[in-house]
Amino acid sequence: MIRILTAGESHGPALVGILEGMPAGVKIAQRAIDKDLSRRQMGYGRGGRMQIERDRAQILSGVRFGEAIGSPIALLITNRDFAHWQDRMANSGPPTGPAVTRPRPGHADLAGALKYGRTDARDILERASARETAMRVALGALAKTLLATCGIQVLSHVTALGGVQADVGVLTPADLARIDRSPVRTADPQAEVAMIAAIDRAKEAGDTLGGMVEVVAFGVPVGLGSHAQYDRRLDAAVAGAMVSIPAIKGAEVGDAWWSADQVGSMVHDPIGFTPGEGFTRPTNRAGGIEGGMSNGQPIRVRIAMKPLSSLRRPLASTDLITHKPFDAQVERSDVVALPAAGVVAEAVLALVLASALTEKFGADTLTELKRAKRAYERRLPR
Ligand SMILES: Cc1cc2nc3c(=O)[nH]c(=O)nc-3n(C[C@H](O)[C@H](O)[C@H](O)COP(=O)(O)O)c2cc1C
Repeated sequence: MIRILTAGESHGPALVGILEGMPAGVKIAQRAIDKDLSRRQMGYGRGGRMQIERDRAQILSGVRFGEAIGSPIALLITNRDFAHWQDRMANSGPPTGPAVTRPRPGHADLAGALKYGRTDARDILERASARETAMRVALGALAKTLLATCGIQVLSHVTALGGVQADVGVLTPADLARIDRSPVRTADPQAEVAMIAAIDRAKEAGDTLGGMVEVVAFGVPVGLGSHAQYDRRLDAAVAGAMVSIPAIKGAEVGDAWWSADQVGSMVHDPIGFTPGEGFTRPTNRAGGIEGGMSNGQPIRVRIAMKPLSSLRRPLASTDLITHKPFDAQVERSDVVALPAAGVVAEAVLALVLASALTEKFGADTLTELKRAKRAYERRLPR
């Protein structure tokens, strides 16, 4: 099974990450990691930070001559912005910069400062920042590499932004290139225009926006995850991973919210059989997961992102020390981060699927994993 850990503060020297469980023999390309890091930095409505950072991951261990060797893979992403923050982010000596004592509504500042007994909310906000997701994108790119070797591809697209809904039919992996060309990463060109206008209006008003992203995984074999125990269910792992992304407040597998208002005969996907192809489903309202297991259909998850918490016109807040009311501290902020959140969601879905794949088929070597997968697929009726 694949597991990851990340560390690093938003304005500290670097982000670090470790991925354990990559089968030996998987070809690891630096450019695949850097490509996803740069996709995460795109998107209309992002603020100044993304212009400062040009993220690149350095591979520190676990890869020799372009191949995973079975040991933990450690990555490092340098924070170029650290150069401007050394006064506030030094790890020794007395503090020199000003403390943040005004917790921002919608962020981890207040709960974190109280929980960890900190009088400077910077101790909390530096780690709670979504900068951490850059490392998850880098580690997710490793997972995507493994999945791609096994014929599994992941894409994301923005389906709603600031109240503007996209109207998109069934997508295939080939659509990813045109989605990435959209400044708001939507597959609906008409909605794109309205979404950009909504971002401009929110920026003008000093406000922020949220929305919805859909993440889809193609080519997932039937039988990842298990019905046998609650903590082995694939839907639970996927939903948990999605809401671990900052500002993602809900995750919907398939057409969950719609189906809650329907009768059962409208919802469940009939089962057919086509000789040569195997079991088929005319619809995929379940989102590719039944009984906690992948069912062979594309895995489809939609996630809801709240409007970003840092507002140019901040909400009222109360000082941590004096307990007196203040306007909340203004931090540099994006208007919307939906396009980037989609790239992060691809990474976390890839990590969950790569973990489930190695659990089912083995994780020591890529050769053994592929052999086990082929033998399993031969056993399935066609
Ligand atoms: C890619 C990405 C970028 C983000 N950028 C910002 C930002 O610039 N400003 C902000 O207030 N929140 C931003 N957020 C969201 C905050 O990190 C998040 O709202 C905050 O940590 C509290 O959310 P939580 O309650 O879900 O943890 C971003 C989230 C993601 C996924």
